[in-house]
Amino acid sequence: MAMGQIPQRFIDDLLARVDVVEVVGERVALKKNGRNHAGLCPFHQEKSPSFTVSQDKQFYHCFGCGAHGNALRFLMEYDNLRFPEAVEQLAARQGMEVPREGADDPRAQAREQKRKEGVNLLELAASFFRERLKMPEAEQAREYLKRRDLSPEVQAEFAIGYAPDDWEALKKHLTSQGVSEAVQVEYGLLVHREDSGRTYDRFRDRVVFPIRDFKGRTIAFGGRVLGDAKPKYLNSPESPVFHKGRELYGLYEARQANRHLERVLIVEGYMDVVALAQFGIRNAVATLGTSTSEEHLTRLFRMVGEVVFCFDGDQAGRQAASRALATVLPLMIDGRQARFLFLPEGEDPDSLVRREGPDAFQDRVTCASPLSEFLFEQAGRGRDLASVEDRERYASQVLKAIEQLPEGVLKSLMLSELSSRTGVDQARFAALLAAKAPAEPNGLEAQDDMPADAWGEPNGQVARGGAPLAAKRSGAMSLIARALQLLVHEPTLVDRLPESLDWCPEGDGDGALLKELVKLLRAGRYRSVQVLLAHFHGSQEGERLAQLARRELLMPPAARATELDGLVEHFCRARSRQTPESEYAALLAKEKGGQRLSREEKQRLMELLMSLNR
Ligand code: UTP
Ligand code: MN
Repeated sequence: MAMGQIPQRFIDDLLARVDVVEVVGERVALKKNGRNHAGLCPFHQEKSPSFTVSQDKQFYHCFGCGAHGNALRFLMEYDNLRFPEAVEQLAARQGMEVPREGADDPRAQAREQKRKEGVNLLELAASFFRERLKMPEAEQAREYLKRRDLSPEVQAEFAIGYAPDDWEALKKHLTSQGVSEAVQVEYGLLVHREDSGRTYDRFRDRVVFPIRDFKGRTIAFGGRVLGDAKPKYLNSPESPVFHKGRELYGLYEARQANRHLERVLIVEGYMDVVALAQFGIRNAVATLGTSTSEEHLTRLFRMVGEVVFCFDGDQAGRQAASRALATVLPLMIDGRQARFLFLPEGEDPDSLVRREGPDAFQDRVTCASPLSEFLFEQAGRGRDLASVEDRERYASQVLKAIEQLPEGVLKSLMLSELSSRTGVDQARFAALLAAKAPAEPNGLEAQDDMPADAWGEPNGQVARGGAPLAAKRSGAMSLIARALQLLVHEPTLVDRLPESLDWCPEGDGDGALLKELVKLLRAGRYRSVQVLLAHFHGSQEGERLAQLARRELLMPPAARATELDGLVEHFCRARSRQTPESEYAALLAKEKGGQRLSREEKQRLMELLMSLNR
């Protein structure tokens, strides 16, 4: 590919000529729907279409996962292209030639040269290691692989090789091919000793696993000792082409084996991936000695709807699972699934699949705990749910996790499950959450908020991907705003409010608006959202209400009334100047003083405990 930056005017010109509906339509079945086109989102798994493409705006936007952008962004995401590649592809459709700025800029040339050099160098190293595995010197390595029972087929598929027991074998080989030592150091093949200035091969007398990117290009290596020496595994350091927090071992191979992966199994080790593949379980990937990152998961969820985390059954495995849970929660938009599989102590997938066979292993995968189950189980661990205090801690922990979930069905279900497990009304949990929920519309914002500049990375040859909108977190929505929101969505709720407006919080802004809204609704003429919004049209208040109307409530209608009741109760208490602290102290004193608390009071005490502990 040519070098240098692509001039912005060319990109503008190109975008003016292509039609995003056409570009998307070639890859996704779209139906015309008013001024927009709609279809099933190609970036997450869904059953009903929330993916829209606007001809006017030349944008696509998914209301489910937040994916959005213009024709270029679409190609980058869908075809996994880098920015310049997407430009090339679009331009080719139009028969346009992509001009480059400063194609003779020596710095740009040097950068490009270097990237190529790096990739070539790693490919050279990979074939060197593979060749060496066939040589007499690799006798012990071949023995080792045999002992571990890796079939020749799977060795070939994963391009497993051997780094000879020699300080300079690879160095000599690469140097004879004209590769400078500096570059070999930069890509992690040679170690450079600061003190002596000496350089030598990083991988020696190890079985070598090449790590490949999504296109199959070798970007790093992992090497295992043949015996018990330490460290057991040695990995390439970070380099211009290798970032541990992003890459997954085995992902390329899994995709080769099955273009339409639906589920990915995340395991810990190289050997686990390879052994599972040998037994026909072709969808395992491994992180590279790190915990699973948000970037790992974001990438995976672009390809599959379900990830299954696989952990050892011991203490360390439990801890790793907690970390994975925390990482995956904000990414759990509807349509995605995450499950947790715990193996018997002392086993890993490699040992287990060999001992039990692939069918039994698959059964374990099939029976792995769904995220919700794991979450409740973990929060309940070591707690006696018959005691109020333990139930409180249990509920707080679960609520903290629920708070991390993006809006959606899962979140609602979790809330109602928590409520049935603790006996506390769901609406009260919802109110606690609402007190901390985002103030600004999130990924589910309405159509007219389609971001106008959303194609992001202008000429961004480097930046790609990132978390979906839905995963972003923002500030807090007040309880008053929540009450407003409930009324806007369901104006008839006004009927259950107390006769007098004494409960209404004082103040301007939302407080005043709430009062006004209640009066208007009482007057009776505004029982639909549209008419209500029309009344306020053009004013600041109108804008505020429209904003709240656009935000989905995402809670079952049955729970809305109770939530509003809870809010009103809260406002009343606030007006009677009782702080949660004083109320809590009073209740606690009552209990400590030997008086029996009523069911209501017990519940209230637990609620206060939770809100005060947050
Ligand atoms: P394990 O110690 O569980 O090894 O490390 P394993 O995968 O079962 O390997 P075998 O079966 O003994 O060959 C799991 C993963 O942690 C990373 C590697 O990615 C390894 O696959 N690791 C482990 C390291 O990076 N360095 C180490 O020294 C050990
Ligand atoms: Mn192992």
